[in-house]
Amino acid sequence: MNFYVMTLFPEMIMQGVSTSITGRAMAKGVIGVEAVNIRDYTNERHGHVDDAPYGGGAGMVMQAQPIMDCYRALTDKIGKKPRVIYLTPQGRVFSQSYAKELAAEEELVFLCGHYEGVDERALSLLQTENVSIGDYVLTGGELPAMVMIDCISRLVPGVLGKDESADIESFHDNLLEYPQYTRPEVYEGLKVPDILLSGHHANVEKWRREQSIERTLAVRPDLLPDAVLSKKERQYLERLLAEQKAAMAEKENISPMTEPDACQ
Ligand code: ADE
Repeated sequence: MNFYVMTLFPEMIMQGVSTSITGRAMAKGVIGVEAVNIRDYTNERHGHVDDAPYGGGAGMVMQAQPIMDCYRALTDKIGKKPRVIYLTPQGRVFSQSYAKELAAEEELVFLCGHYEGVDERALSLLQTENVSIGDYVLTGGELPAMVMIDCISRLVPGVLGKDESADIESFHDNLLEYPQYTRPEVYEGLKVPDILLSGHHANVEKWRREQSIERTLAVRPDLLPDAVLSKKERQYLERLLAEQKAAMAEKENISPMTEPDACQ
C-alpha cells in the first residue's frame, strides 16, 4: 500500500514514519510513504503558499493553486487518482473501523493543512474526505496524517510480524484490552494475578474477557452497545451494571444532602 502526503513539512513526515514498525515495513517494501512539498508547486516568486482570508479575520489560508498543482503532478506520476484525506478538526472522527476500510485501498493521499486552513475550492475540487483524529486542535495536519498512516499500516498484511497480531488488540469485539503482565512474578510487592500462573487456558481466557468488559465499562462505556459478547458475558456485564447501580444508590443515601446538618 502506498501513502502520499502533501505537506509543507515533508521531512517531519519522513522522519516520523521511518522508524519502528512502519520503517521496517517501508524497508521491506510492504508499504511506501512519499511526502511531497506543496511549496515546490507555488507560482509565486517568493514561494508563498498562503494569503490573508477574504472577508477578513486572523491568520493565513493556504492557497488552492499550489495544492492543486501538487496533486495533479502526483496523480500524473502514479497514473491513479486515489482518495484524498484532508486532516482537519472539522472532519469525521477517525476510528478503527474507518482504518479498516482505508486499509483496503492500494493508494491514499493525505493533505496536511497549516495556518488557518485551506481554500475551500481546493477541498471541493479534490473531493476530500475530511478527517479529525480527535476533539483538540493541533498546529497542522502532519501528526494526524502520521497517526492515520501508522494505524492503517498495521492492518496491511505483512506489516506486523507473526508474533504481533493485529487481531488481539483494544477494540477487538469493541472491547478494551485486558491487563498484561510479564516477569517477575512479584514487583514492588505487586503480584501477578494467580489465574495467569495456573496454566488453565480456558480460565485465563474467561478472566481476560471479564477484565476487558470491566475496563470498558469503567473507561469507555460508550463502546459497550456494539460489543460482541457471549450470553454468559452479557450476564456478567449485567451483574456489573447492577453492582454499579447499587453502589451509586448507597452513595446517594449517605451523600451530604441527606446527612444531618453538622452546624446544628
Ligand atoms: N489539524 C489540527 N488539528 C487536527 C485534528 N485534531 N485532527 C486532524 N487534523 C488536525
